[in-house]
Amino acid sequence: MKAITLTPLVEGSVSLEDIAEPDPASGSVLVQTVAVGVCGTDIEIISGQYGWAPPGSEKLVLGHESIGKVLEAPEGSGLAKGDLVVGIVRRPDPVPCYSCAVGEWDNCHNGMYSEHGIKELDGFMRERYRADVSALVKVDPGLGKLGVLLEPTTIVAKAWEDVNKIGNRSHWEPKTALITGAGPVGLLAALLGRQAGLEVHVIDQVTSGIKPELVSMIGATYHSVDMKEALSEPDIIIECTGVPALVFEATQQVGTGGVVCLTGVSSTGHTTDIDVGAWNRDLVLSNKAIVGSVNANRRHYEAASEALSKAPREFLEKMITKSVAFTDYKEAFNHGTADVKVVIDFSDV
Ligand code: BGC
Repeated sequence: MKAITLTPLVEGSVSLEDIAEPDPASGSVLVQTVAVGVCGTDIEIISGQYGWAPPGSEKLVLGHESIGKVLEAPEGSGLAKGDLVVGIVRRPDPVPCYSCAVGEWDNCHNGMYSEHGIKELDGFMRERYRADVSALVKVDPGLGKLGVLLEPTTIVAKAWEDVNKIGNRSHWEPKTALITGAGPVGLLAALLGRQAGLEVHVIDQVTSGIKPELVSMIGATYHSVDMKEALSEPDIIIECTGVPALVFEATQQVGTGGVVCLTGVSSTGHTTDIDVGAWNRDLVLSNKAIVGSVNANRRHYEAASEALSKAPREFLEKMITKSVAFTDYKEAFNHGTADVKVVIDFSDV
């Protein structure tokens, strides 16, 4: 069968190649891949900056944002032929640490977790894969291929859970949220903020195109101005760009008692002079909280699934700005500035 593979940390090594059928030892459920989304992490892996091959292998199958169809599942497993499923990206570490031991692998403490398509486990950009029932999430059949948006939604479901848990450290009545970046993660963060009844503002650089339209489709407000001009002292900021200047500004602009959640993985090597004393003084005197948030556990997959089922369908459809056949995979990695989510289609070829 065909798979999109690469040699981690080797730029330009991505290719479409024939690999063996999935090993039955890798799980009792056989899944046919329908579509796989491309995200910033994939682009980093392709450009040789990130990624780990499975132990004993030089190559890694790419892809962690998947939607697939069950081909075979054990009787009584809760899954049956034809069900739509998403593979959970991160698997617990083998020790396991106290978080992985209770299914909170997203907060793994020893770093020995693995991630499909990213760290030591083959990903989903292959025609078929096998997984255990515990590593799969059943998706609302009504979503169809749009289920490919589930994984990025899990990231923001976790971010919102973190924000709410931290905000509720004392009596809290948040009204406004600012989201930085109208990429897939920012738009999905805005969707969940609107579903929670908040006034949501999204900032991004572009002034036209699909992004402002998508933001208004969910009843949020789009701005292509500075954070400060967009909204003064929001209760919540979800930072989805990883751009160092915005990360720092978010911690300054959030309102008293507010929460800043950082979800963007920045590149390293950006240094700046800051008055740490003034910054710390403001954080302390205003009871501000900053939290970094990565990955998602099953609880977040369930919350994300519910959020997508309630979302306006047209919004989800329009988020996917490009869909390419896996044979044309190279086109999917040339992400244009007008693109929101690009997906690689494995079902029709
Ligand atoms: C994925 C997460 C993963 C993170 C770090 C993100 O792109 O969505 O599941 O934990 O990268 O590897």
